[in-house]
Amino acid sequence: SPSDPNLVERARAAKEKLGSKVFVLGHHYQRDEVIQFADVTGDSFKLAKDAAARPEAEYIVFCGVHFMAESADILTSDDQKVVLPDLAAGCSMADMATAEQVAECWDVLTEAGVAEQVVPVSYMNSSADIKAFTGKHGGTICTSSNAERALEWAFEQGEKVLFLPDQHLGRNTAVRDMGMSLDDCVLYNPHKPNGGLTAEQLRDAKMILWRGHCSVHGRFSLESVEDVRARIPGVNVLVHPECKHEVVSAADYVGSTEYIIKALEAAPAGSKWAIGTELNLVRRLANRFAAEDKEIVFLDKTVCFCSTMNRIDLPHLVWTLESLAEGNLVNRIEVDRETEQFAKLALERMLALP
Ligand code: 13P
Ligand code: SF4
Repeated sequence: SPSDPNLVERARAAKEKLGSKVFVLGHHYQRDEVIQFADVTGDSFKLAKDAAARPEAEYIVFCGVHFMAESADILTSDDQKVVLPDLAAGCSMADMATAEQVAECWDVLTEAGVAEQVVPVSYMNSSADIKAFTGKHGGTICTSSNAERALEWAFEQGEKVLFLPDQHLGRNTAVRDMGMSLDDCVLYNPHKPNGGLTAEQLRDAKMILWRGHCSVHGRFSLESVEDVRARIPGVNVLVHPECKHEVVSAADYVGSTEYIIKALEAAPAGSKWAIGTELNLVRRLANRFAAEDKEIVFLDKTVCFCSTMNRIDLPHLVWTLESLAEGNLVNRIEVDRETEQFAKLALERMLALP
């Protein structure tokens, strides 16, 4: 979308005034008008590492969603301030697992006599509370780019995994990458007594999947894959692992946002691609690679932005940068010390994965 030149100029001026005091991180799903001001861009894993790479920056402006800013706060020093340009930029998937629900789930696992065999693996897309729970119980965090390694690690520590909160990433990684069967997985529904599972089901399962999902990636269907294959002969279907299992199974390639970009960079001229992930990224890639004669289309027929990612727009970024430049610390995301301590343990286990 064309950016208001006045706002672009104001953002540039405020950023220049702040100089090395500010470091702007941008997730690949951010709007073009915002991403142009990012010092680094990346997927969730890369941004978690990059956040800690500028210890001299007093302010880390995170153009992404709340759980990403929390993770950046956990991984950076106490005197660095992480700022989220719009506090309403949450993630509906992360909201699907609350600390109370997860504590209750652990009680259910304990009652069934399986808790001692269970290692929690939590997707980055979760609140700091859930990350702390994970750290406390000997588990690790994963992202869409290291989920397989995280599961391999977890199965060296215990016999079962409780995977939070994205059922699809958990199922897709277990079945597609690790050769488990769908029957090895059970779905824990936090809205039902005992998760809707019997003690026997819990004892038999290898993967206990939390019943969460991404509403953006949940829109892609098997029909969207079949339609695009019929419409564009020879098309390569490349989707994010937050998509449903049937979509991932029908796709040619599966990977994180960073993987998707690398795959398109390496693709030969003349190749055709249908991409199943958020629309800001797909449009940006379609424009970028059109010049190299790579045809890139969005996998679905309907428009599919992540509405919370889109909350970070140029007016919010300008307001944030101008406030910081005037010495007003706004929209700080700060995780309390105890939560931070255990969440960091889980994040560091992820960063130490081979
Ligand atoms: P990645 O950038 O790690 O692929 O994550 C996608 C996502 O949904 C972030 O919210
Ligand atoms: Fe959350 Fe899905 Fe949006 Fe990512 S794309 S922030 S998982 S709602």
